[in-house]
Amino acid sequence: MDPKTQLTELAQGYRQSIVLLTACKLGIFAALGRDRRTANDLAAQRKLDPRALETTLLALAAEGILECHDQSFCIAPRYLEILLPDGDQTQSHIFNHNYNCLQRWCRLAEVLRTGQPVPEPADEPEEDSLRDFICGMADISRVASKEVLEKVDLSPFRKMLDLGGGPATAAIEFARQHPQLSCVVFDLPGAIAIAREEILRAGLTDRIETRIGDYYQDEFGQGFDLVYISNIIHSMAPADTDLIARKSQQALLPGGTVMIKEFFLEDDRTSPAAAAYFSINMLVATEGGKSYTLRETREIFRNAGFRDFRSIDLAADSRLLIARNAGTPTGS
Ligand SMILES: C[S@@+](CC[C@H](N)C(=O)[O-])C[C@H]1O[C@@H](n2cnc3c(N)ncnc32)[C@H](O)[C@@H]1O
Repeated sequence: MDPKTQLTELAQGYRQSIVLLTACKLGIFAALGRDRRTANDLAAQRKLDPRALETTLLALAAEGILECHDQSFCIAPRYLEILLPDGDQTQSHIFNHNYNCLQRWCRLAEVLRTGQPVPEPADEPEEDSLRDFICGMADISRVASKEVLEKVDLSPFRKMLDLGGGPATAAIEFARQHPQLSCVVFDLPGAIAIAREEILRAGLTDRIETRIGDYYQDEFGQGFDLVYISNIIHSMAPADTDLIARKSQQALLPGGTVMIKEFFLEDDRTSPAAAAYFSINMLVATEGGKSYTLRETREIFRNAGFRDFRSIDLAADSRLLIARNAGTPTGS
């Protein structure tokens, strides 16, 4: 692509992104469902302005996301399972979370001037944005957890701690495949409320326990042979990652395993682009979070007493770093 076209596409990328995320957030795809509806009909149901809605639906049709025939619209079949909240590849919750993130990204200039993250947007009840966030994690983690199961043999493990386990997606997927495994999902109260709903729905209350806690303040428990830390350390400043690595080491039995899933950066910190952009997501939302390199993360966990590192590539620019608890933190 020539440089002018490339920059113009980048500069105008917000148009597609905002139209897609707003339609998702306002429940337009969910209201369309698997049917065909006119803009007027949908506007009346969603209490939206008919002209504004029709303009938005036409832009989505221009993108091919909707199909438009005789002034009525439907979701193009290839996007149905992704856009519908109950679709089997749904991304609707993470798109709602992306919409919430967008409010912060729009204030990047302010962050660059102050060095401070943007406060939680006030125009939405906290409970709703938390649900978008936690259920959005499930949209991502459902796919990633299945991939971990394909690439890592979890059959030797008996007791797993899913640290910051959110909606318990990994614990559920892992426990389903491995009847010998029991899990503890450790997270803040709002996430644990959602995790409990999911564990109940999965029929796994006998093997997946929840524990409300703050991983900075509270103990993780003892006697685990596996600690899973998925998409957690990117929200932390380096000093906090040291603390989490040490507490994970203490929670593990000797010889136990830690698995850290992240959007790791290469050593030059410019690729993959998705991880470089993810660092902006942390910049606008957290005090000290960022995308870490694999090498930085290996050092953090080596200093906490882990050895025998290996890494596995996962889809969506993620990687899994796996290490064994050798029981001797550096300096102890
Ligand atoms: C990005 S999500 C990752 C969720 C899950 N591990 C996954 O990969 O889908 C981060 C999780 O960490 C939890 N969390 C954030 N701060 C925490 C804290 N101080 N103590 C415990 N959990 C925390 C959040 O509630 C959220 O569930």
